[in-house]
Amino acid sequence: MSLQNTAAPEAGQAAASTRIQQHRRYLMCKPEHFTVSYEINPWMHKALPTDTAKAVRQWQTLYDTYLSLGHEVELIDPVAGLPDMVYTANGGFIVDGTALGVKFSVDERRGEERPFMDWFAAHGFEVVEPVAVQEGEGDILLAGETILAGYGFRSSIDSHREIADVFGREVVSLHLVNPEFYHLDTAISVLDPVVGADGVDKANIAYLPGAFDATSRGILEERFPDAIRVADADGAVFGLNSASDGRNVFISPRAAGYDAQLRERGYHPVHIDLSELLRGGGGIKCCTLELRGATR
Ligand code: ARG
Repeated sequence: MSLQNTAAPEAGQAAASTRIQQHRRYLMCKPEHFTVSYEINPWMHKALPTDTAKAVRQWQTLYDTYLSLGHEVELIDPVAGLPDMVYTANGGFIVDGTALGVKFSVDERRGEERPFMDWFAAHGFEVVEPVAVQEGEGDILLAGETILAGYGFRSSIDSHREIADVFGREVVSLHLVNPEFYHLDTAISVLDPVVGADGVDKANIAYLPGAFDATSRGILEERFPDAIRVADADGAVFGLNSASDGRNVFISPRAAGYDAQLRERGYHPVHIDLSELLRGGGGIKCCTLELRGATR
């Protein structure tokens, strides 16, 4: 399923853009009802007014950009009273046509669970209702054949066994310790699901070391020795909350250092400004749920 990447440069080496774009199918939700009416992460301040029209315009740019590059984007209808539904990454986790639904840790978002599971079922996915608390692709990332799963703030570590059982894959548990990076997708970006010529999983990732405890940093160093380690300044502008098609990496325009690191490795950064949606504590990846398998 993964594409082979020939001519990948060694870590840190400059390279012409040899990266190969892979087709993506995403689920997004227009932020028609976006606002900040509660505070469930350190980025949210309900006393500050939000500009819903601006959020929609910025979101539209992301949507249009995906389409212009040939990706497929499905839409789920926004629901009034569920202002965080725009962050579709938290709607589920999908591999090979199986969609594991979510069980939010925060009551404010529990109303989103059913609409997302209904959408998956109506679009040909086999839906698994979750037992343990986890917040979907916000905390669960597919890196090659392996699943990386975060815990510490929102998803429970108990969910990791359930995820391994549902998908029959290895799950690597990573402990998030910085409240600003409360979901795994704010601290790790999967750039390229590569399986090398030798069949060995060599997914390329970027991550923010300071978001993890020492044990988890050790695991990341061992498993991903060539990973891009992103500076705190780029993490702080949600630089890692990015989507990638293996060549184009959709990032915040403010993550200048990360932009340079990506270029050095032959990726093509595409800048998308979602500043208004950052006020809800979400960015590009949060607004993007990958749909793997099932085509109806
Ligand atoms: N306000 C949302 C929450 O705190 C933001 C979710 C961001 N999503 C993500 N995948 N990191 O739940």
